[in-house]
Amino acid sequence: MTLSGLQRFSLDGQVAVVTGGGGGLGSAGALALAEAGADIVLVGRNRTKLDAAAAAIDTTGRRACIVEADVSDATSMEDAAAQAVDAFGRIDILFNNAGITNPQALLDIAPEDFRQVLDVNVVGAFHTIRTFVRPMIGRGYGRIINMGSILSGRGMANRAAYCASKAGLANLGAACAFEFGADGVTVNTLGATVIVTDLNRELVRTQPALYEQIVRRTPLGRLGETEDLMGALLFLASPASAFVTGQTVFVDGGYTAG
Ligand SMILES: NC(=O)c1ccc[n+]([C@@H]2O[C@H](COP(=O)([O-])OP(=O)(O)OC[C@H]3O[C@@H](n4cnc5c(N)ncnc54)[C@H](OP(=O)(O)O)[C@@H]3O)[C@@H](O)[C@H]2O)c1
Repeated sequence: MTLSGLQRFSLDGQVAVVTGGGGGLGSAGALALAEAGADIVLVGRNRTKLDAAAAAIDTTGRRACIVEADVSDATSMEDAAAQAVDAFGRIDILFNNAGITNPQALLDIAPEDFRQVLDVNVVGAFHTIRTFVRPMIGRGYGRIINMGSILSGRGMANRAAYCASKAGLANLGAACAFEFGADGVTVNTLGATVIVTDLNRELVRTQPALYEQIVRRTPLGRLGETEDLMGALLFLASPASAFVTGQTVFVDGGYTAG
């Protein structure tokens, strides 16, 4: 089918899954996807936050379904995919957004804490892609967007676990692009700069010099706002991005250009 004009950006009739859907960027992304026409499956562990995200989606007239699941648990994600397909019958978009950080120096971080970041940010994405891509392959269409970071492409002190995880996630996406391209499924990564959310609010407050340095290195001269991410997310989620796959799209005010 040939789409024209703004139809290429419409998500009408589609179903999007958002992991970490109750969090700062996840709930905002879910709302943006709903405003573009998609029904939403919100996946996460914190019911209160997921309920709040679902209430926001209700205001758009789209449907929201909540699935309580832990991305680092393979069985939990298999159940989540089954519940999502039961609820809406199809999956078109996966926003693989759940993630954690641990801002400790390499010499200080305990091996189990390092591994936990990898378990959620990389192995969790692996479990999530594995289960949710199957219904996409079955229908020959899908859009997978991984939530990377400027640290998918750059290093930073005291962020070794997060850097390793977000670089791993981006290259997991590139590998999946090769595996699923023939099935009509694209896989891309969003490389977001710092956006103040629950993930980093305390770090931004207690380490102002670090964040001022990031702003100084950013051509557009500021940190990100949640809204800054939504254009790129909607593009990668829509039919408009049909020939874009395996990429990391940095939404960072130019930080990684230098
Ligand atoms: N904020 C930034 O500056 C920034 C920049 C670049 C990339 N990112 C990435 O953006 C994503 C969202 O972060 P955010 O800033 O919105 O932080 P946030 O508000 O803390 O949200 C993170 C979400 O991840 C979910 N999550 C964590 N562990 C999970 C698990 N094991 N299973 C299921 N869900 C889990 C949490 O859900 P529950 O509470 O329900 O468990 C939470 O809703 C993360 O991947 C983060 O690395 C953030």
